[in-house]
Amino acid sequence: MLELEGVTRRYGRKVVLDGISAIFPVGLTLLVGPSGAGKSTLLRLLATAERPSRGRMSWAGEPLPAARKALRRELGYAPQAVDLPEDLTAREFALHIAALKGLELSAADRQFLSITQAIGLHADVNNRIATFSGGMRRRLIFAQALLGAPRLLALDEPTAELDGETARRVGALIVDRARSAVVVMTTHLSDELAPEAAAVLRVEAGRVAAA
Ligand SMILES: Nc1ncnc2c1ncn2[C@@H]1O[C@H](COP(=O)(O)OP(=O)(O)OP(=O)(O)O)[C@@H](O)[C@H]1O
Ligand SMILES: [Mg+2]
Repeated sequence: MLELEGVTRRYGRKVVLDGISAIFPVGLTLLVGPSGAGKSTLLRLLATAERPSRGRMSWAGEPLPAARKALRRELGYAPQAVDLPEDLTAREFALHIAALKGLELSAADRQFLSITQAIGLHADVNNRIATFSGGMRRRLIFAQALLGAPRLLALDEPTAELDGETARRVGALIVDRARSAVVVMTTHLSDELAPEAAAVLRVEAGRVAAA
C-alpha cells in the first residue's frame, strides 16, 4: 500500500498538486481528469522520480525518504513521454532495463518475450526502436515496466495511441497484475477499465476526488 498525506508539488510559484491525501491499495486505481490537471506529476511522485514540495508519503507502512530504496526495488514505471535509445532493438532495451533492475537476464528476456507476445509486439522485438511507431513505443515502455514482478506499477497512459483491440490486451495484463500489485494508471479512456478498478480518482486542478 502506498499512502500520501497532504502532498503538494510546486514548480516555482505554480501549485500543481495541492495537498493530496490518498491511499493506493493492492488493486487498480485509475487517475482520470483533464489535460494539465496534474496526473503525470502525481505519478512521477509515486514513482519517486520527483519529490513532494510538502507532505508525506509512505510505502508498505514505512515513511519516505527512508523507504525510497525499498519502493524503487519494487517499482515498475511507464512514463507518459520518454526518450528511447533509438539505436537499440526493443529486446536490447528491455535487457538494459532488466540489468538496471538487477534481474536475472535470461529470465527477464523470456518474460519480455511473453509480455510482448501478449500485446502484439512480438514480431518487432529484434528491430531497432528507431523504426517504431507511436503505439509500438507505448507498448515497449509498458512492457519494460512489467519486468520482474513489481509490487508497485505506475503507468502513465499505457493505452494511449493504441487501437481498441491492442488497448484491451494491454488492459488485460494490467488487470492481471493488479491482483497482487498496487497499480496506479492514468487514462483518458476511463470507461474500459473502470469496472475492473478498485477506485477511480478524478484529478482536477491539482486536487483529487473520488470519481
Ligand atoms: N517540470 C515542470 N515545470 C513547470 N510546470 C510543470 C512541470 N511539469 C508539469 N508542469 C505543469 O503542471 C501541470 C500538470 O501537468 P501534468 O503533466 O501533471 O498534467 P496531466 O494531468 O498529466 O496532463 P495530460 O492529461 O495532458 O497528460 C501543467 O500545468 C504543467 O504545465
Ligand atoms: Mg499526463
